[in-house]
Amino acid sequence: RKIKMASIIEKYKDRVSTLPKHTSWIKHPLYKYEGFWFHQGFWFHSEASFSVEVVMALQEEFVAQPTNVFLATYPKSGTTWLKALAFAIANRTMCKGSNPTHPLLTTNPHYCVPFIETEPFLTNPCYNNDLLATHLPYTLLPKSVISSNCRIVYVCRNPKDVFISFWHFVNKLLSDDMSPEMKLEDAFELFSKGVSPNGSCWDHVIGYRKASIERPDKVLFLSYEEMKKDPKSEVKKLATFLGYPFEEGDGEIEEIIKLCSFKKLREVSKANKDGHKAIPNDAFFRKGEVGDSVNYLTPEMIEVLDKITLEKFNGLDISF
Ligand code: A3P
Repeated sequence: RKIKMASIIEKYKDRVSTLPKHTSWIKHPLYKYEGFWFHQGFWFHSEASFSVEVVMALQEEFVAQPTNVFLATYPKSGTTWLKALAFAIANRTMCKGSNPTHPLLTTNPHYCVPFIETEPFLTNPCYNNDLLATHLPYTLLPKSVISSNCRIVYVCRNPKDVFISFWHFVNKLLSDDMSPEMKLEDAFELFSKGVSPNGSCWDHVIGYRKASIERPDKVLFLSYEEMKKDPKSEVKKLATFLGYPFEEGDGEIEEIIKLCSFKKLREVSKANKDGHKAIPNDAFFRKGEVGDSVNYLTPEMIEVLDKITLEKFNGLDISF
C-alpha cells in the first residue's frame, strides 16, 4: 500500500516544489495548486490522503464511471451526514424494520462511502461503489467526472460555522497528537485569507454553485442549514436526484432521517471502537448545530467573515 502512495509522492515531487507555499494550521505548510491550498506528501500521521500529489494523480489517472455519484463538500460542511443519508437512501432495503445489522448502525459513514483522495481508495483497485466522496474543488475534479456526466451532490454551510467546526476538529487532532492547540486568532487569520486545506472555503462553494446553476440535472446543491431546518424536503430532493424517489406516507423518509441523525450517528460512533488510525470516530460529531460560531467568534471576526461571504456569494443565491 505504502509503496504506491510513496511513488505518487515521488512522481510529483518536482512539480510541488515549484508551487507557492504558506504556513498553515499545523506544522506542515500548504501549497497553492490551481488556485486552491493543499498539504504536501505524508503530512499527518504518515497519511498522504488529500495531499496535493494525490490531487495531481487523480487528475491524471482517475477514470470515473458514468454511474458514479460524487458527494462533494468543503471539509466540516456536513460530509458525514451527507454520506450517511446518500448511503441509506441508495441501500434502503437494508433500513427496513430498523435492521440492527445496517452498516450505519455498526460503523462510521466514512467507511460506507470512501473519499477518492484517500489512501485506502487509491490503493485498493477493487473498490466498487457507485457512491464516492470528495473534498476536491469543482475545477480540480478529474476531467472524466465531468465528461462522463457523473452526478454530483454538494452540501455548503455557512463559512462561520465551517470555520469554528474546522478549528475544533484540528484542535482535537492536535490534542490526540500531544501537540499544542491552535489559537482561534491564528486560525482565523489563515481561514479568512482563504488559506485552509482545500480552500478557500468560499471559492470551493462558488465552483459547485456555478456548476449547479449551469448543469442542474447533474449537480444538486444543498445547504446544511436547509437540511437542519427542513430535513424531509431536502432528503426527498436528494433521493429523487439519486434516482431513488420516496413513496409518500410509508414512513421511510422519517426512518432514514432518524438513522442519519446527529444523535444516532454519534451514539454509534461512540460505541464503535474500530476507528481510523489517525482520526477518532467521534471527531466527526461535535454539536451539529446551526450558528454555534457566535459562541466563539468576536463581533469583529463575525463582521469580517460576513463581509467576505456577502461579497463572494453576491448574485449566486446562496442562503444559510
Ligand atoms: P460541528 O463541529 O459544528 O458540530 P464534516 O462531516 O463535513 O466533517 O462536518 C462535521 C460537522 O457536521 C460537525 O459540525 C458535526 O458535528 C456535524 N455533523 C456530523 N453528523 C451530523 C448529522 N448527522 N447531522 C447534523 N450535523 C452533523
